[in-house]
Formats: sequence, C-alpha cells, structure tokens
Amino acid sequence: MTPDRVTTLPSARPAGLSYRKVTKRFGSVTAVDDVTFDVPEGQMLGIIGRSGAGKSTLLRLTNRLADPTSGAMTIDDIDVGALKGKALLRWRAECAMIFQQFNLVPRLDVLTNVMLGRVHRMGPVASIFKLFTDEDRRAALIALERLGIIGAALQQAATLSGGQQQRVAIARALVQEPRLILADEPIASLDPMNAKHVMEALRAINGEQGLTVICNLHTLDTARAYCDRIVGMRDGRVVFEGKATELTTEAAREIYGAGQEFEEATTSTSLPGAIAARDARRPLATAQAIAAR
Ligand SMILES: Nc1ncnc2c1ncn2[C@@H]1O[C@H](COP(=O)(O)OP(=O)(O)O)[C@@H](O)[C@H]1O
Ligand SMILES: [Mg+2]
Repeated sequence: MTPDRVTTLPSARPAGLSYRKVTKRFGSVTAVDDVTFDVPEGQMLGIIGRSGAGKSTLLRLTNRLADPTSGAMTIDDIDVGALKGKALLRWRAECAMIFQQFNLVPRLDVLTNVMLGRVHRMGPVASIFKLFTDEDRRAALIALERLGIIGAALQQAATLSGGQQQRVAIARALVQEPRLILADEPIASLDPMNAKHVMEALRAINGEQGLTVICNLHTLDTARAYCDRIVGMRDGRVVFEGKATELTTEAAREIYGAGQEFEEATTSTSLPGAIAARDARRPLATAQAIAAR
C-alpha cells in the first residue's frame, strides 16, 4: 500500500454533501427524521446507532436507492433528489457501496468480481457478456494489489474468507472511481482481526486518495478509532454530531438509549490495535480521547 501505487488509479473529485431536514417515512415508521448535517469533501464520517436507528436508510437516500419523503440532499449545491436519467445513473456510479455481506458473485473469480465495478461505464452488450478491456483488468489488478489480495485474483470469490471478500468488495468499489464510498456496517460480519484490516483499508483509501467515506457502524469504539467525525442516530434523529474526542459517555448513552448501567464495553468490538492505528495517525487527538475517558 505505497502512495506511488495509489496515484496509478485515477481518482475522481471527492464529494461534499449536505443533508437538510431529510425525512423518510415507511407508513407509520419514520426511519429518518428531520436530519440535517454536512459531510465535507474528503471526510471519513462514521454514523453510529442501534439497529433500527435509520443508518441504512440514510445511505440508501444518499445514493437514491430510496427517495426522501421530505427534505433535500445536495452535492456541490446540486439537488440530488432532482437528478433524473443519465445524471441519476452517473450519481449512483459515483457512490460506491460496500455492504455487510460483501455482495460478491460467489462463483466468479476475484478479478472478475472487481472488474464488475466498471460495468457502469460499459455499454449494455459489453456488460452482459462481461467484455472487459485491458484497462479494466489493469485497474482491477492495481486495486487488488493495493488491498493486499492480488494473490487471490484467480480464485473463486466463494473460497475466500469474509475479511478477504470484503477487501475484494473494496477493490471493486475503487475501480468504480467513485467520489464517495458508502459503507453499510462493513465489519459487522467479520472477526476482530479481519475487521481491523477492513477498517484500515477504508481509512487508508480516505487518507491517501482523499475520498469521502460515510461508514455506518454498530459500535462506537470503531468509529472513534477510525473516523474524523461521528454522527449518532437514534430513532431516525441525529442526537450527536462531533469529533470522536467529543463523544462522551453521556453522548453515547443518548445514542444507544442505555440507562445508568451503560458501559462502552457493551457496544465494543474490541478491535485489536485499533487505538494503536489511531495513535499513529493522530497522536494529539488520541491523547485527548484517552484523557476524556
Ligand atoms: N423498506 C422498508 N419498509 C418499511 N420499513 C423500513 C424499510 N426500511 C427500513 N425500515 C424501518 O426503518 C427503520 C430504520 O431502519 P434502518 O435504516 O434499516 O436502520 P439501521 O440501519 O440503523 O438498523 C426501522 O424501523 C426499519 O424497520
Ligand atoms: Mg442497517
């Protein structure tokens, strides 16, 4: 993962987003409730909250897999909700999604899975027959090398461990040349060591390439360790917004809805070395965070 390799993949300009009074209702359920916040270009934002807090719905609204009931979302002052036709397809292609369950095609090899990140730039015939170009292959190999799994390029995706599969999914996201990565609980199905590798990969992409990353996370210790900023959601509403260092135990109680018995350990994945990773990146912030505990 050396910086000179990073430059060999062209990178699109990162997206900066604004959510303004965004609400999404499903019948009587308000999944996202009057949400207002900004995501500056190049930020790694963690969205935390319990199951059902509205995190996934917010990501689906962001790439227009769902439309808000009311409110607006803008990217560079363009109303995302008003995008239609080709402009909407382009926006979806600019948002790369990473899912908890990886969403690879299990019977296909790793290289082909990664190249599928390029289909949005192919014509219909080429995409049906998977007529990839040398350039597609080259981009996929660069991304796989960068994620440290080039050795598995010709292996069937189904034969890989969960952690490796998620790194393949990140490689697939990278060859899409996105402006924004939307990761929906990317480590929820992984053991702590693989979770650490995946979070480090996302953080490295954000840091080296300056890509905006929005990452839904179940647990606050992971968000603290890897994200620049945290938005805490509860029952569809934003109940915390701030730096990782500002997330006090009281704020965490508000987000998770726990009583006095609340303990951080109950929302912890205990990623080994997570604090060390943050130490290496932001020594000052870490010292403050430790002091605040
Ligand atoms: N397509 C849907 N139809 C009906 N209710 C939904 C739908 N998607 C989400 N919800 C509801 O919206 C709320 C928020 O869900 P979700 O965004 O998945 O939360 P999270 O990702 O934080 O677990 C939940 O109550 C969920 O049941
Ligand atoms: Mg979810």
